[in-house]
Amino acid sequence: MFKSLLAAFVLFRVAFGLNILLNNDDGFGASNIREFYRLLVAAGHNVYMVAPAFDNSGQGGRMSLTTSPTLATPSQFNLVPAGSPSLGQDPHDSHIWYYNGTPASCTLIGLDHVLPTFGDFAVPDLFVSGPNFGDNVGTFAFTGSGTIGATYTAIGRNVPGIAFSAANPTLGYTALTNTTNPSTWAAELAVQFVDTVAKNARPGKPLLPLGYGLNVNFPPLNSTCMRPPLVASRFSGGSGMPKFQYNDTSKLVGIADNNYFGVISAGENQCINGDCGLPGESVVVTACQTSVTVFTVDYDAPMNRDTFAVEQLVFGASGW
Ligand SMILES: *[C@@H]1O[C@H](CO)[C@@H](O)[C@H](O)[C@H]1NC(C)=O
Ligand SMILES: *[C@@H]1O[C@H](CO)[C@@H](O)[C@H](O)[C@H]1NC(C)=O
Ligand SMILES: *[C@@H]1O[C@H](CO)[C@@H](O)[C@H](O)[C@H]1NC(C)=O
Repeated sequence: MFKSLLAAFVLFRVAFGLNILLNNDDGFGASNIREFYRLLVAAGHNVYMVAPAFDNSGQGGRMSLTTSPTLATPSQFNLVPAGSPSLGQDPHDSHIWYYNGTPASCTLIGLDHVLPTFGDFAVPDLFVSGPNFGDNVGTFAFTGSGTIGATYTAIGRNVPGIAFSAANPTLGYTALTNTTNPSTWAAELAVQFVDTVAKNARPGKPLLPLGYGLNVNFPPLNSTCMRPPLVASRFSGGSGMPKFQYNDTSKLVGIADNNYFGVISAGENQCINGDCGLPGESVVVTACQTSVTVFTVDYDAPMNRDTFAVEQLVFGASGW
């Protein structure tokens, strides 16, 4: 009886346990990614983390390769001391790696070096990033967020990718003292999301079609909002970007009113691709709802009248 139960349990784990590469932009010591890692492993997934040694928010898909083999300063939250290798392992967990570079660089170092050399798999079934500290909603966040940049980099390298973001503020993982906090809640939802996708996937097929990804944003989580329903969304629709403001006293440029999404302009909210009937993810997360946007890394314009008109400007009758 016990043996068959055990066998069923093992089968279940084999059926749904994925080989996962995990990354973020807030750094390898952030509480959100550490809770996500812990709970993915607890759910039976085989996970390697390769994430920035320091906070790398806002780096988008930028590459960076350090020219120093060692860290000049202690890593984020003093998890490893100055002088540690620029690419190294967490002292307490051999599946957790950090690199002194951007999120997109961590993705590529994970795929090209860490997994093939040190992993028990070389090609992940799934790449996941986050949950980011702060929601990454709208057109501007898509290219600017390191959490999403790490994800579209993985997708470009044939690995299905999901970017997760949550609304809670930054915390080092060692500051967590219990599991009743927004980092754990966001991680629980992210694991549930991964498990849902895995269970609905067709056996033996890639989790997502080639070139496809998902951008998932959780609303602020609290005792009245613990299980926000999933809502299909799109990047454009209520999507904002910063307004820059020059300060004559400090002679510095800052973000007006500290409002990162302060300017909602028609250009970034034009619906060109996808289902124009879907709500913008910026709007979805203002209620207790999780936004789920399907995207691709094919950024070409669709075939339509506007695209044809643009092509005519270049290739039209008045020749080059
Ligand atoms: C759990 O930890 C959070 C901070 O991480 C704290 O705000 C909260 O009061 C703690 N709750 C309990 C029940 O200890
Ligand atoms: C709880 O979260 C919901 C939705 O995310 C938000 O509308 C509400 O204001 C929050 N409540 C508290 C007490 O913070
Ligand atoms: C401009 O800079 C000064 C000096 O740093 C600061 O006190 C002031 O709050 C700033 N004004 C705005 C609108 O940010």
